[in-house]
Amino acid sequence: MLEQTVQIVSHERDAESYFRLVLRAPGIAPLIQPGQFAHVRILPLKDALLRRPFSIFQVAGDTFSILYKNVGKGTDALSRMRAGEELNVIAPLGHGFTVPPAGGETPLLVAGGYGMAAMFLLAQRSPQKGIVFVGGRRRVDILCEKDFAAIGWEVRVATEDGSHGEKGFVTVPLLAEIQKRRAESGKRKLFACGPTPMLKAVGKIAADFNLPAELSMDEHMCCGVGTCLACVIKVKSGDSWEYQRTCTEGPVYDSREIFWEDPK
Ligand SMILES: Cc1cc2nc3c(=O)[nH]c(=O)nc-3n(C[C@H](O)[C@H](O)[C@H](O)COP(=O)(O)OP(=O)(O)OC[C@H]3O[C@@H](n4cnc5c(N)ncnc54)[C@H](O)[C@@H]3O)c2cc1C
Ligand code: FES
Repeated sequence: MLEQTVQIVSHERDAESYFRLVLRAPGIAPLIQPGQFAHVRILPLKDALLRRPFSIFQVAGDTFSILYKNVGKGTDALSRMRAGEELNVIAPLGHGFTVPPAGGETPLLVAGGYGMAAMFLLAQRSPQKGIVFVGGRRRVDILCEKDFAAIGWEVRVATEDGSHGEKGFVTVPLLAEIQKRRAESGKRKLFACGPTPMLKAVGKIAADFNLPAELSMDEHMCCGVGTCLACVIKVKSGDSWEYQRTCTEGPVYDSREIFWEDPK
């Protein structure tokens, strides 16, 4: 993990309120593992001391990129920045996904909204190609379809309003696929990033079909490096549970470790 002031190489609108930002970070880029994140200080912002966490989307040479949605003060200030301007980042942070080994389980990736950003590097580095299930409210929330197809992954889309792909939650086509190939249950593994209810549903599917699953628990964060405890979740410990910091012990967890308040 390094703290660096880095330069924006390019910054483009992807769709509506989504942006792709490429940063030149020669010390950081080679260290990045899929599922890790960067904690970004947006220097033009008045309260720039408070960093914002973003999954690392892509790595190329000495650059890495993030794919983000403009949702508030920080991301709005970020969206106004231009190539050549600087940001301060701490990265790579957190415990990422396990890259599936060659000849191992077929990966089934499940992503909701900007959760796609955490998935691309995993797909790219996986020697085993699989299926990526992408969900969102509307067509504009379906990100990276072409990026995944370009690296040979099958993409299945679901939107809540039915404007693209299947109508409904992304877990519907996921469940259908798992049921269709029930006999192969030992040979598949789920990986997911997205809203908490989606992660919980994926965890339940994994448990019901006895499939391994890794979930990226993107909680609100403050320090990003394990000192403030703003990001804790409950993780099973013996017959009980304990708090763990998603910024350091996570954000990616084996789904069997997570203690859901209401496991239904
Ligand atoms: C590990 C991790 C990885 C992330 N990766 C990405 C990513 O790849 N792309 C991306 O667009 N966003 C990602 N996020 C969410 C991103 O950090 C927030 O959207 C951002 O910090 C909002 O900052 P803001 O100042 O614009 O919003 P604020 O003005 O602080 O808040 C605006 C709205 O965004 C909501 N919000 C703030 N933080 C989060 C959060 N952590 N999760 C969900 N909603 C939040 C607030 O509740 C509020 O409704 C990630 C978060 C974590 C913890
Ligand atoms: S964000 Fe501070 S401990 Fe995780």
